[in-house]
Amino acid sequence: MQEEVTLLQMRHIDKSFPGVRALNGVDFTLRKGEIHALMGENGAGKSTLIKILTGVYQHDGGEILVEGQPVIIRSPQDAQNQGISTVYQEITLCPNLTVAENMFIGREESPLIRHKDREKKADEILGHLGIPARSTQQLGSCSLAVQQMVAIARAVDMKCRVLILDEPTSSLDDKEVKMLFDLMKDLRSKGVGIIFVTHFLEQVYEVSDRITVLRNGELVGEYLTKDLPQVELVSKMIGKELEELSALGESEEKETKDAEVFYEAHDLQSSEAQPFDFSIRKGEVNGFTGLLGSGRSESVRAIFGADKVNGGSVKICGKPVKITKPIDAMKHGIGYLAEDRKRDGIIAELSVRENIILAL
Ligand SMILES: Nc1ncnc2c1ncn2[C@@H]1O[C@H](COP(=O)(O)OP(=O)(O)O)[C@@H](O)[C@H]1O
Ligand SMILES: [Mg+2]
Repeated sequence: MQEEVTLLQMRHIDKSFPGVRALNGVDFTLRKGEIHALMGENGAGKSTLIKILTGVYQHDGGEILVEGQPVIIRSPQDAQNQGISTVYQEITLCPNLTVAENMFIGREESPLIRHKDREKKADEILGHLGIPARSTQQLGSCSLAVQQMVAIARAVDMKCRVLILDEPTSSLDDKEVKMLFDLMKDLRSKGVGIIFVTHFLEQVYEVSDRITVLRNGELVGEYLTKDLPQVELVSKMIGKELEELSALGESEEKETKDAEVFYEAHDLQSSEAQPFDFSIRKGEVNGFTGLLGSGRSESVRAIFGADKVNGGSVKICGKPVKITKPIDAMKHGIGYLAEDRKRDGIIAELSVRENIILAL
């Protein structure tokens, strides 16, 4: 860490929604060149604090200072003018446009800047940040990790001083997470203050310098990461002492090796997946792992019949069955949540009710 310079202060921030006090006098301080993890259970108030900082919500009380000066942030544009940029969990760029178009969309400083110049500038930024993408590539053809990095490149190029990453790693694999962390560390060394929200505790310890913990809309405390053991972080997040924690969980471990095999596939293959064997017992949780492109998603899509199944055999509770379409899988009690739920899991324009009955 460099010499400590306070970049951003949020003081005594209050925010209520009808019936809920989402934030109650919360303080948060971000310094130049630090990666600061914002931690707390679901509903603790992390997103609300961030949305106040980015002008999505207005706070009811308290103040925000940037480099010591009180500022008023009423819109995302105000936040951007203060050099505060956000990369949301769900990528909010346009997959059908090129990388360069995505980096400059919505801020054409001059319509006279030629396409080629823009591409050249985009390539410079990508190269500078070590992002493995070309400016002319269609964004949708890049991996989610690279898309996320393009979103960061876009944020960084907007002269960002504060970069907010809300759950940036949820859909990345280990290698991609490492690339993202290298980029974060590089930006830190350039003096950017980074607010990092995640559910992955190991990642907090791998990359953050400081941790702020919220619980039920209140500040629990701010700690140097190196001074806060992981078990203490957990106990601060959930508000329980360590002894209570160790008593939890013990009763939950169950043996499943004698349970009945529910599903069994032999040489299952689809238009997208190579032949594979797989089985799962009742009461089991089974993880599929591998690098990007190794066939994890394709394998589970074959199990669900979401891609064209063209070989292999499947048994459910020992009985041979045919699962070639999603409806077959559903009739046998198999459900599937897609990797990109916004694109493949729901139809956002329809109501909750319509979405729920749609699958029937
Ligand atoms: N737009 C909203 N309307 C009503 N209640 C909200 C809204 N946004 C958040 N809340 C409530 O505020 C509290 C804090 O939520 P949130 O900031 O999303 O927590 P976190 O991001 O830590 O999971 C929760 O009780 C949540 O239900
Ligand atoms: Mg949240």
